[in-house]
Amino acid sequence: MRISIVGGGYVGLISSICFAELGHCINLIEIDGRKAEAINSASPPIYEKGLEELLSKHAGRNLTASTNYSGIPESDVTFICVGTPPKSDGSANLSMIESASKSIGLAMRDCDRYHVVTVKSTVPPGTTHNLVMPIVLNESGKGKDKIGFVMNPEFLREGLAIQDFMNPDRIVIGSEDIRGGDIVQSLYYGLEAPIVRTSLTAAETIKYASNAMLATKISFSNEIGNICKKLGVDTYDVMLGVGMDHRISPHFLNSGVGFGGSCFPKDVSALIRLAEAVGEDPILLKSVVEINEKQPMRMVNLLQRRIGDLRERKLQFLAWHSRMIQTMPGNLELYRS
Ligand SMILES: NC(=O)c1ccc[n+]([C@@H]2O[C@H](COP(=O)([O-])OP(=O)(O)OC[C@H]3O[C@@H](n4cnc5c(N)ncnc54)[C@H](O)[C@@H]3O)[C@@H](O)[C@H]2O)c1
Repeated sequence: MRISIVGGGYVGLISSICFAELGHCINLIEIDGRKAEAINSASPPIYEKGLEELLSKHAGRNLTASTNYSGIPESDVTFICVGTPPKSDGSANLSMIESASKSIGLAMRDCDRYHVVTVKSTVPPGTTHNLVMPIVLNESGKGKDKIGFVMNPEFLREGLAIQDFMNPDRIVIGSEDIRGGDIVQSLYYGLEAPIVRTSLTAAETIKYASNAMLATKISFSNEIGNICKKLGVDTYDVMLGVGMDHRISPHFLNSGVGFGGSCFPKDVSALIRLAEAVGEDPILLKSVVEINEKQPMRMVNLLQRRIGDLRERKLQFLAWHSRMIQTMPGNLELYRS
């Protein structure tokens, strides 16, 4: 099938390359011309294991990147993969979703065949139905008989993105009309994973709830770890034993410095703001964030107790992913090995 993908960042580029590998023809639309050029010349703008090889295989063949939306009318499905960063109050900034929806709608004006607009970005429940759908329908001048709407969240982990896309635990497809959902489901043909078909809003909520659950496991493990430290017990032994219970699972039970990265902090905050907006007080999620905010200072205090004053001391950090290095504070010399 012909697929347009709007946004060539982590999710957009990895989805593009993996859908190309599954045999589809990809029109990648990336607003940043330098990124689009890099993709076309098969030099990945990000590092992911296996990305360079797959990009060399597909760039210029069944994957082309550009800065314009003119290829959308020839596509069967368009995915929205733009960023949803946090606003200063913690809620999700949907301005990129809005602007991508407008451009998609405008591009659809002269298209008469059925097309499916699919949101892959992580968006607050209700966004596809209440924001994306009206903008696309309004700008295109078309009705729901011509454009289907689907919400298909992405669960990949940076660093293992291609592996995760190709071997998902589940594929979640939220749709209003069966036809749109069926078309998006067919794009994943060849992958072995259970398919979860839901409403648009349930699909959006699955993504937020999943990230909130993982963040909760990390904060829980940190709290247990902090108690263990006081008791003189090895928390890794404790969590090994805890994780063997199949109802709990061994994943995300390591205590340490807390969670970070590009998704968990913003998604948990956005869920808290959303809960408050509908009159709920999400006390558990607020505690998850509070534990996480205090955890890094515990590491500093621990170090100070062990080696004294940290000023003028040389510290070495192990960062397993390039984005972790980008988010580290200044004053760091970088050694790669
Ligand atoms: N990074 C992850 O691990 C991950 C995993 C799952 C879901 N998500 C979600 O997926 C979404 C995208 O995340 P990301 O990490 O890929 O973001 P990103 O910032 O790496 O990429 C977004 C890209 O969209 C481009 N863009 C913005 N507006 C555009 C427009 N109107 N037209 C064309 N291109 C445009 C930007 O230039 C950028 O390259 C977010 O909602 C995020 O929460 C991210």
